Amino acid sequence: MMAFQEKKLPADAAIADKALNWVDARFPLTSTWKAHLSEYYAPKNFNFWYAFGSLALLVLVIQIVTGIFLVMHYKPDATLAFASVEYIMRDVPWGWLVRYMHSTGASAFFIVVYLHMVRGLLYGSYRKPRELVWLFGVGIFLCLMGEAFMGYLLPWGQMSYWGAQVIVNLFGAIPFIGPDLSLWIRGDYVVSDATLNRFFSFHVIAIPLVLIGLVVAHIIALHEVGSNNPDGIEIKEKLDAKGVPLDGVPFHPYYSVHDVMAVAVFLIVFSTVIFFGPEMGGYFLEYNNFVPADSLKTPPHIAPVWYFTPYYSILRATTSDFIIWLIGGVIAYVGLIVLKTKLSGLIKAIAVGAGVVIVGSMLIFDAKFFGVVLMGVSVMILAGLPWLDHSLVKSIRYRPSWHKYIYILFGIVFLVLGYLGVQPPTAVGTKIAQVCTFIYFGFFLLMPWWSAMGKFKPVPDRVTYQPH
Ligand code: HEM
Repeated sequence: MMAFQEKKLPADAAIADKALNWVDARFPLTSTWKAHLSEYYAPKNFNFWYAFGSLALLVLVIQIVTGIFLVMHYKPDATLAFASVEYIMRDVPWGWLVRYMHSTGASAFFIVVYLHMVRGLLYGSYRKPRELVWLFGVGIFLCLMGEAFMGYLLPWGQMSYWGAQVIVNLFGAIPFIGPDLSLWIRGDYVVSDATLNRFFSFHVIAIPLVLIGLVVAHIIALHEVGSNNPDGIEIKEKLDAKGVPLDGVPFHPYYSVHDVMAVAVFLIVFSTVIFFGPEMGGYFLEYNNFVPADSLKTPPHIAPVWYFTPYYSILRATTSDFIIWLIGGVIAYVGLIVLKTKLSGLIKAIAVGAGVVIVGSMLIFDAKFFGVVLMGVSVMILAGLPWLDHSLVKSIRYRPSWHKYIYILFGIVFLVLGYLGVQPPTAVGTKIAQVCTFIYFGFFLLMPWWSAMGKFKPVPDRVTYQPH
């Protein structure tokens, strides 16, 4: 074991230096600061897309702090919950502000995180060596969805109640175990006080703990391999004599200053929503949720909050007549794997076996079950991106120009699905959602082929950067 050593400072050293020296001998304060901030070399060509990671951290802090204050006055009891939220809004000093910060913060979290993920997609940030950064990110995204879903039940309004009822009932569509599983999740035969209590417990402690752990892991993994950048070039491959990347600048102060600017812009927009339109036309806070939960009165139109609607649309698109198209899709995809890949015979045989099982179960089980499966897969498929993308370069900048149109089409499809998910279902809407569902999955599942096709542009040796 190494002997304990404290650096020798001159007797007349400043008291602050002596204190820091004392701490550093016992806790890696200065070295952590250097490793993650003042000597963490980030590529000098970051653009505005790189601010959303810090903004996501900011929103996380806002949600935790406002959440702590809400819990001081909220009552997780089915007979008191709705009234306790009204009490927060009307009687608790500044309670309305804390509550609106938290409800607006939920939507802001998804906006910021979606933009953060788009950046990853544009610049291939999920590719080697950042696969784990991405996988931790996908874990964060799943937690965020669970956190938002459970939080939404807490005000015990009509939408809270019926939204939870619809989503928990979905688990009932799983063959064999479904009905018992949904009963187990609810803790009762319908959404009730027992459900409210367990969702409260998950929302305020269990999921936030996992979320914070994953965010720490996300950043540690990123700092291990270093940040990607809009050119998709690894700056660690060109070092100066001291081993510092030639195209890197210390994160602090260069990017901490940038991020403060982004925080200012974000807070202006965030405050504008809080002070002038916290309901955001019913998108951030649904109007039906200002009515107390009533287990005897089903609202005519139940829709989740906007950030879930793309996936909800995929669920609703999976009607029984759509199954035949899905079967066609599975057969075509297995055919593609067998005929158009150089995978080993064993993997091809597994693909054929899996195809037979999927098609067989599609013929046996209810379409609703496959709606639930597709909804789950539509989120989980993100985890496969590092292995689905076979492009020769990381960044969209150096991919064939037509790849851009594929990304634009995917973006439009995602937004259309999101829009349709908010609307009551119609025959035309369902048809459009079905086409969009095909394109959504096609984007990911056909990526191993399309991402490698076309004429790639030469990637420069060093990052492109205009001094400013
Ligand atoms: C609470 C949510 C999240 C927080 C606080 C967070 C935080 C951060 C931070 C601070 C960075 C470095 C700054 C930056 O590059 O923007 C970063 C990078 C990154 N994040 Fe996240 N993140 C979150 C969610 C996600 C999600 C959901 C994904 C993807 C599914 C993701 C994928 C990535 C990737 C790939 C990078 C590296 C980007 C690059 O180097 O180009 N993050 N994240």
